Amino acid sequence: MSDWQPSSWRSKTALQQPIYADSDSLHDVLQRLGERPPLVTRWEVERLKTQLALAAEGAAFLLQGGDCSESFAACRADPIEKKLKVLLQMSLVLVYGLKKPIIRVGRIAGQYAKPRSSDTETRDGVTLPSYRGDCVNRSPFTPEDRLTRPQNLLAAYEYSAQTLNYLRALTEGGFADLKHPENWELDFVSLSPQSDDYHQTVRGISDSLNFLDVLGGVTRAELSRVDFYTSHEALLLAYEESLTRQSAADEGWYNLGTHFPWIGDRTRAIDGAHVEYFRGIKNPIAVKVGPSTTTDGLIELLDRLNPGREAGRMTLICRFGAEQIAASLPPLIAAVEASNHPVLWSIDPMHGNTITTENGIKTRHFDQILSEVRDSFAIHAQHGTVVGGIHLELTGNNVTECIGGAAGLSSSDLSTAYESNVDPRLNYEQAMEIAFLIAGQARDSNTDR
Ligand code: PEP
Ligand code: CO
Repeated sequence: MSDWQPSSWRSKTALQQPIYADSDSLHDVLQRLGERPPLVTRWEVERLKTQLALAAEGAAFLLQGGDCSESFAACRADPIEKKLKVLLQMSLVLVYGLKKPIIRVGRIAGQYAKPRSSDTETRDGVTLPSYRGDCVNRSPFTPEDRLTRPQNLLAAYEYSAQTLNYLRALTEGGFADLKHPENWELDFVSLSPQSDDYHQTVRGISDSLNFLDVLGGVTRAELSRVDFYTSHEALLLAYEESLTRQSAADEGWYNLGTHFPWIGDRTRAIDGAHVEYFRGIKNPIAVKVGPSTTTDGLIELLDRLNPGREAGRMTLICRFGAEQIAASLPPLIAAVEASNHPVLWSIDPMHGNTITTENGIKTRHFDQILSEVRDSFAIHAQHGTVVGGIHLELTGNNVTECIGGAAGLSSSDLSTAYESNVDPRLNYEQAMEIAFLIAGQARDSNTDR
């Protein structure tokens, strides 16, 4: 691609970029980042692309989840273990229900930058720059905390490396071994109507040799390790550029700061800097697709980002909201089908369903989230297309950020354990309920046939 360079986005309009007062220091930081080793390898990235191509055809399923925004402070053993654990447990339920391999991808090890609806935030008459994620500034509402600091970019790289290092040790080192029941034990779902179901699932799987085949022909000894990939919104293009490396094998460029970067709903303008950057990297990529997406606009994006129609390259993460999906999704499916672009359709039932309570707390109703998931499956079934994945904001901790679920959280419970600096996440139990819902849908549609 002779008209593309990792820096060619710089000639386009880049939305949602922080402004740095000290450009020398920014330059110095970016140069140092460019000299650091990559966080992932081209081989891992290509392997993921092959697996995503299977998911697009319905032969595998993508489970992508994690925090809305990781914080540097949460780069500790316990939250990382819990996040991995909930994703592994969900994948177990899904593998059993869907009878296909599950591709596990965390919103993790780099999810430090956030797009914001406003550049500034005003509280009690005081206006400060918005919090844009830990790789830009800090969340407390003081002028000092809201300063943009180039050094945070280096810190983001270092925290990503530490997180990934621990994830790799856990996934390689037996954390996922079904022979260690403590890692599969449900901590606090005893209240949940699904806990019996889950225990039966775990027993069933342990007994089932077929399960080994479902995982991809592995032997029992290999079962103790699982694939786990990373993803984040590649929002800060200067950071992403510095982790973009050329492959010696074929001279193509890869973003090696993550396996699977995505473009957010606010930054997917066809002539914008993000689309320019993404068109030149060879990673599998995703685009968030919200209600403002037009059919022509979507096809233009696919033509620009995947002109060679490579399988596994494009994932569309749809996030319309429970009220909007019935109107928004069908025309887009029809247009993509007519265009013959291979895409993986994934569901993000979180970002179209965010509301603010009377007390000013951001939340989401679990019922709305479930409703969007159900409707997605139904709409795709009507069109003969497949839901190839799900994208969730979740945590392994027992937070109270989304309303509803088996434990019946109400808006007055939100303050009990609300930890997110940005969007509200599903807690452990709510996340498991979604996995059961999807597994159950698959069972029902199999018995319908
Ligand atoms: C997000 O995934 O946290 C996000 C900001 O999503 P979207 O771009 O879909 O609004
Ligand atoms: Co979010």
